[in-house]
Amino acid sequence: MSTRRKSIVAGNWKMNLDAAKARSLTEAVAARAAEAGSVDLVLCPPALYATTVAAALGLAAGGSPSGVALGGQNAHDKESGAFTGEVAPGMLRDIGSRYCILGHSERRTLFGETDSVVNAKVKAVLAAGLTPIVCVGESLAERESGRTEAVVTEQVLGSLAGIPADDLATIVVAYEPVWAIGTGKVATPQQAQDVHALVRALLARLSSPTVADTIRIQYGGSVKPDNAAELAACPDIDGALVGGASLKADDFLAIAKAFG
Ligand code: PGA
Repeated sequence: MSTRRKSIVAGNWKMNLDAAKARSLTEAVAARAAEAGSVDLVLCPPALYATTVAAALGLAAGGSPSGVALGGQNAHDKESGAFTGEVAPGMLRDIGSRYCILGHSERRTLFGETDSVVNAKVKAVLAAGLTPIVCVGESLAERESGRTEAVVTEQVLGSLAGIPADDLATIVVAYEPVWAIGTGKVATPQQAQDVHALVRALLARLSSPTVADTIRIQYGGSVKPDNAAELAACPDIDGALVGGASLKADDFLAIAKAFG
């Protein structure tokens, strides 16, 4: 965590909970958000419950009384049209979202999203006035064959190709080693820091060292209350993208506090 960058901790609920649980979890996080200290908090519910979460956060009335922001888990790269089952970036914005996760490894591996698909979505989400949280990360086979650096480099450069420096300055990147997601196997702080430093160097190549220095890079993959502090202590880790542990208010807030 750097003193120059405010940390950002986001909960990726994936395809979990129901409307009542989404509401009560949101209320619990919002009521206790101050416990986390100086950290941006984001909840990313399933699209169908986004309005429920927006209402529980008071977003419908404008602003965010609790300071907790809303984010999408995915978006289409077009603003409207014949795309059955999809959600447009402007729709997320319309209901009060400020962020949108893009290129999550589950989208990449289960739904065939390539870097160029992610790139189109990043541009569309920026155009809609949202902050993309752009995910990158290597698989176990890629790490074991020494390809981590090459894979992450390709993903960062491909997913962020053609984005002007002014826009790059506003985005969030999430480094999520695929082998650490939902497995309970967290990257060591040194493994994570090494890749975060690489991502920052790539961001500098795409913009400038000054801009790259302001961009927040989250770590994701089995972040829990008991490993958050050592990750937060790394100079280039500016927050967390939390899956499983974000489904419990106590755990999510404890993680946020480690970064606050
Ligand atoms: P996890 O998921 O915290 O359950 O490992 C992280 C993510 O997929 O964003």
